[in-house]
Amino acid sequence: MSANEWMTAEHALRYLRRADEYPRRAEGESVLLDHVPRHVRRVLDLGTGDGRLLALLRIDRGEMFGVGVDSSEVMLDAARTRFADDEHVEIVKHDLAEPLPAFGRFDAVVSSFAIHHLEHERKRSLYGEVFDLLEPGGVFANFEHVASATHRLHMAFFAAIGEPLEDEDPSDRLLNVESQLGWLRALGFDDVDCYWKWLEMALLVGVKPGS
Ligand SMILES: C[S@@+](CC[C@H](N)C(=O)[O-])C[C@H]1O[C@@H](n2cnc3c(N)ncnc32)[C@H](O)[C@@H]1O
Repeated sequence: MSANEWMTAEHALRYLRRADEYPRRAEGESVLLDHVPRHVRRVLDLGTGDGRLLALLRIDRGEMFGVGVDSSEVMLDAARTRFADDEHVEIVKHDLAEPLPAFGRFDAVVSSFAIHHLEHERKRSLYGEVFDLLEPGGVFANFEHVASATHRLHMAFFAAIGEPLEDEDPSDRLLNVESQLGWLRALGFDDVDCYWKWLEMALLVGVKPGS
């Protein structure tokens, strides 16, 4: 298991208390929702936390079956509680630092503020695994905390979200948008772009070629 702050209850609960307070978050999430088709059948959420993104997707995707993975026991408990009465969602313990298990194929793979906790090399190999897991035509949508171009912009982001820079998560491994879009293109994703961005919050999307 990769060691990071998310394994402590204090860190995970602090995030959950603040999760709705990040400015402009709902905007980025709504653009993500626009790019996951309504008829989607199987969706994988990487670093699902308490299942926030799966719950948003489930609102108007009645037939969708969601799989949420996370490594934090606190988050897994919260997600299992959220979906206790929903047979269309499965929550699985998995450390994303390790290769993804054989989950089967997905029509969409999504993630929100999670992959930036992985080392850069692992981000890249995970994107490759996502490509392999997707059905032809499947979409990858990563709503992510990305690196600023300058330290001044990094400080501006923390000021904008109302957090002192000293509270920056030590498990963050922020990477710029351009590198990540380049990786997605090199892996063979189509229509790769940053579909929404505000300071250090960005939505990176790619589509696996196919029908
Ligand atoms: C900022 S939270 C986001 C949670 C959720 N996706 C959301 O949008 O509310 C980051 C999540 O990534 C998970 N995470 C961090 N490192 C991980 C790893 N190596 N493997 C699996 N999950 C990880 C944390 O446990 C946490 O749930």
